[in-house]
Amino acid sequence: MAIRNVREIGDEVLEAECRPVKKMTEHLSELIDDMFDTMYNAEGVGLAAPQVGVLKRFCVIDVTGEDPYVLINPVIVEQSGEQTGYEGCLSVPNKTGEVTRPAYVKVTALDRNMQEFTLEGTELLARAICHELDHLDGVLYTTKVIGDLKDVRNDDEENED
Ligand code: NI
Repeated sequence: MAIRNVREIGDEVLEAECRPVKKMTEHLSELIDDMFDTMYNAEGVGLAAPQVGVLKRFCVIDVTGEDPYVLINPVIVEQSGEQTGYEGCLSVPNKTGEVTRPAYVKVTALDRNMQEFTLEGTELLARAICHELDHLDGVLYTTKVIGDLKDVRNDDEENED
């Protein structure tokens, strides 16, 4: 396991459409482990494959530090409501901005055994799912910010994903 280099805004890999994962391999499994390490090391709540330079449709999410999910080829199948709040991204360091997301989302995905599962989320989990899935389509939250992107002050607590 290892910490991977996180690509930053301006890197074209962050704006590309990712391709579906066809099968689990040892290489991919290692990459997933590394992505968890990288996310926890940076105190993020999610990390998508393009952020480590891999154009495949998967991401890791853990909004509590104790509830890790791998979402492979994820698809949002249901969403409702709205929430507006501040969001950050490990690929956009020291910045934050307000984004409106669904209040609730339901996603189907494959787990690391390539078995389909369903995940439902509200609040931060719903926000993280939407944010990470956007990465798989080459979309950064900065394109959805209401008003201006702000600098994160050191005394603020921000959730970076
Ligand atoms: Ni992000």
